[in-house]
Amino acid sequence: MNAQQVISQFAATGVQTCFHDRHINPQIYADLNGSNWSLKDYEARGGYAALRKILGQDGGAGLTQDEVIATVKESALRGRGGAGFPTGLKWSFMPRQFPGQKYLVCNSDEGEPGTCKDRDILMYNPHIVIEGMAIAAFAMGITVGYNYIHGEIFEVYERFEAALEEARAAGYLGPNIMGSNFSFQLHAFHGFGAYICGEETALLESLEGKKGQPRFKPPFPASFGLYGKPTTINNTETFAAVPWIIRNGGLAYLECGKPNNGGTKIFSVSGDVERPGNYEIPLGTPFAKLLELAGGVRGGKALKAVIPGGSSSPVLPANVIMDCTMDYDSIAKAGSMLGSGAVIVMDETRDMVTSLKRLSYFYMHESCGQCTPCREGTGWLWRVVERIDHGQGRLEDMKLLDNVAENIMGRTICALGDAAAMPVRGMIKHFRHEFEAKIAAANPSAATAQA
Ligand SMILES: Cc1cc2nc3c(=O)[nH]c(=O)nc-3n(C[C@H](O)[C@H](O)[C@H](O)COP(=O)(O)O)c2cc1C
Repeated sequence: MNAQQVISQFAATGVQTCFHDRHINPQIYADLNGSNWSLKDYEARGGYAALRKILGQDGGAGLTQDEVIATVKESALRGRGGAGFPTGLKWSFMPRQFPGQKYLVCNSDEGEPGTCKDRDILMYNPHIVIEGMAIAAFAMGITVGYNYIHGEIFEVYERFEAALEEARAAGYLGPNIMGSNFSFQLHAFHGFGAYICGEETALLESLEGKKGQPRFKPPFPASFGLYGKPTTINNTETFAAVPWIIRNGGLAYLECGKPNNGGTKIFSVSGDVERPGNYEIPLGTPFAKLLELAGGVRGGKALKAVIPGGSSSPVLPANVIMDCTMDYDSIAKAGSMLGSGAVIVMDETRDMVTSLKRLSYFYMHESCGQCTPCREGTGWLWRVVERIDHGQGRLEDMKLLDNVAENIMGRTICALGDAAAMPVRGMIKHFRHEFEAKIAAANPSAATAQA
């Protein structure tokens, strides 16, 4: 099925409304809309056929570990957790011959503001993640895995636990899966609701029972991960794509998207749209099409700007985003990031200073405090934006904001510092005049003196 066919297929399904439990589904993540999450429903729609296929339990010869990794590489699946790193390549970094324990970890921490796709996958189609993880474990010779689930969504954790029980009882998890030589134990872990625990090494620390603070890299988790053992970490949506890829082939998945950007992706569309929700569309779909699916800008207002990939991705003004397609390369070329795929739509009435103030507060609150530039800098960013917004901005504040952002970027152990600085820089780049207008209003005598 090519991208065009996929688009027309999902257009025909009609647009679902409502957030958190509604999802347009072209094909890959199956129906995330209802109560058909259980094992029998999943099997009825072809679930666990991919695991059966690689283990040779479908009457076929099975796949080797190399063949599974090659298929994932061919699919051009890129990590859905934010950075878009090629998944097959990441899997090839795992030292398969390592004699001790190796681990597989699913990152379901999902804390990026605007992002709410992983919790829907886990709630409404948990077995797709279990199957994807089992396939990944097979490919990398791993026998133990954990799914780290965000701490504030207990019902999702309970649902995933229930699905694990079903999979164990049916022999899809545990020793000698389906009578093969492959064994895989998978456990759910209830996280602590901290944004920083989504950063992969902070997640590993937290999983080990320690304070969730990022580790220095290198060494990377592939060589020194959970309990110091080789570990592969992928996002929930990344694992969820794998069964389809194995069933249909890497090329078929690639062709759903565009070169270097294989497959479909779930975009959590929020903000000023008529129908907020999780929209699964082929990578490479024009932004205008996604906006149309979401019902357009709410109340018929004009589009002002879009944050295209979660709160840490730089904002793009309407004229720029309207020329973009929704894929990693197009959004990067426009000066932002596809990130986790949280698309925050802002209409013409939005005040960018107030919006940035809210974002900056989040990063200040979530900084783990380990690195000085982030711990101190996120506080400075918030305080300066806050005083501008409250009519107390100083003439030197624009320079100060730029300077603080510059001194955070690239100077911290993890990317939370960058995530705090990038929205500031994006807002200043595209909407400087709004900040300057508030500062000028707060300093009328300076404006007169200049005149
Ligand atoms: C502060 C911070 C928070 C993050 N939060 C998440 C998250 O909630 N979920 C996630 O999958 N990745 C998150 N990441 C990215 C992970 O570190 C990691 O790159 C990702 O889980 C790898 O999976 P992928 O290759 O499938 O994308 C975060 C990164 C940073 C710096």
